[in-house]
Amino acid sequence: MVKGRNILLGVTGSIAAYKSVEIARRLVEEGASVKVVLTGAAQRFITPYMFETISSNPVYTDMFSDPFSHINLSREADLFLIAPATANTINKLSCGIADNLLSNLWLTYEGHALMAPAMNFRMYRNSTVKKHIRNLTQQGVQFAGPVSGSLACGEEGVGRMLEVPEILEEAASLFIEKDLKGENVLVTAGPTIEPVDPVRFISNRSSGKMGYAIARAALRRGAEVTLISGPSALTPPRGASFIPVEKTTEMDKAVFQCLKKSTAVVMAAAVSDYSPVEVSKVKRKKEDSNTLNLKVNKDIIKSLGKKKGKRYLIGFAAESGKDIESARSKLMGKNLDLIVLNDISRKDVGFNVDTNVVTLIDRNGRIADYPKMKKIEVADVILDRIVKFKKGKP
Ligand code: PMT
Repeated sequence: MVKGRNILLGVTGSIAAYKSVEIARRLVEEGASVKVVLTGAAQRFITPYMFETISSNPVYTDMFSDPFSHINLSREADLFLIAPATANTINKLSCGIADNLLSNLWLTYEGHALMAPAMNFRMYRNSTVKKHIRNLTQQGVQFAGPVSGSLACGEEGVGRMLEVPEILEEAASLFIEKDLKGENVLVTAGPTIEPVDPVRFISNRSSGKMGYAIARAALRRGAEVTLISGPSALTPPRGASFIPVEKTTEMDKAVFQCLKKSTAVVMAAAVSDYSPVEVSKVKRKKEDSNTLNLKVNKDIIKSLGKKKGKRYLIGFAAESGKDIESARSKLMGKNLDLIVLNDISRKDVGFNVDTNVVTLIDRNGRIADYPKMKKIEVADVILDRIVKFKKGKP
C-alpha cells in the first residue's frame, strides 16, 4: 500500500522517538521513499544519522539550510506522518505556528496527514491538547492512538504511542479506497478446540492468519468488522470488534448473536468437526480406556446458509489437493455465495503460514485460480467479491 509512495516522517521530542527509526525502516522495506524531518527536541533523543542510514536520504533539521525545503519536501509527499507527535507540536500545528522546519512544512502540506501522539497521560487529558486534537481532526488529520500503557515517567495511562505495526497499518489504510464503507463484515478465524479433559483437547493447526488478514483488509477498506476467533497467538486488528471463543458451540453462539448487524460473513475458521461425547472433569489417566467417543459438531456455516437473507456468505474449503468437486459440493450443500478452496497438502500455503494459494468458486459456476499470494492479498481478492455483489455484479 505504501510501495512507491513518498512519506515525510516528522519526528518530535519524545522518548518514543526511538520507535520512529523502526517506522522508517519498515516503510523503506515496504518500498516507500522516506524523508525524515527532526525537530530540535527530537535530536535530543535521537540522531539524524540513524535516519539517514535507514532511509538512504538526507535528513532535514534546519529551516535555513535551503530556502525552499519547506515547500519542496511537502510538495512531493503523499503522506505526512508525525510520530511521535508531542503535545507541544500538536498545539502549535493546530494554531498554525511555524517556528521550525517541521511546522513550516505542515503549513505548506495539503495531502494525507497522520499523527501518532505520545505524551504523559495528564498532558493528553489536558483540555487545551484535547481542543487542538479536535481542531486538527476537523481539518482531516488522522490520529493513531495514543493508547493506555506504562509511560516513560513510570506512570500508567493513556498517552503511550501506538506500536509501530499499528501505526503502519493506519498509514497504509489512508491510501486504500473505502469501497466497503457501510458494510458490516463478520469474520471467523482460527481453530475451535474441544476439551477432552482439563488438560487435553481436540483441535487443528489453524493459526488464525487467514481470518485476521481478512478482518484487517476489510477494516482498511472501510467496513465495520466483527472478528470471532478461536485461540490464536495473533493480536486482533485495531478497530475490529473482537470476540474470543474456544469451543464450536461458543463460536456458533457468537456468530448468531452478531448475525443481525452483519451484511457479509466470511467463515475462515477451521471449525472442529467433532467433539468428545463426554468431557472428563479430571485429567484422564493413562490406564483409563483409550477409546474416545466423538460426536459430530453443528455445522455453523450450513445453518447460516439457511438464514443468510441478503447477506453475502463466504466459506473456506481446506482440501488435501485441488479438489474442485468437493469444494463445489460444500458451496451448494451449505448454500454459500462463494467458497475459497485452499490446497492444504502443500507446506508453503494454507495452515499456519503467511501465504495461500486459492481457487474461488462461486454460485454461478465461475472458477478463478490465483497464484501464491500473501494472505493479506488473498483477503483483498475475497473482499472484492463482496464489493461486486453489493454493486449487483456478483
Ligand atoms: O488459520 P490459518 O493458519 O491462516 O489457516 C487458514 C485455513 C487453512 C484454516 C483457512 O484458510 C481454511 O481453509 N479454513 C476452513 C477450514 C475448514 O474447516 O474447512 P472445511 O472444509 O472443514 O469447512 C468448510 C467450511 O465450513 C468452512 O468455512 C468452515 O469454517 C465451515 N464449518 C466447518 C465445520 C463446522 N462444524 N462448521 C463450519 O461452519
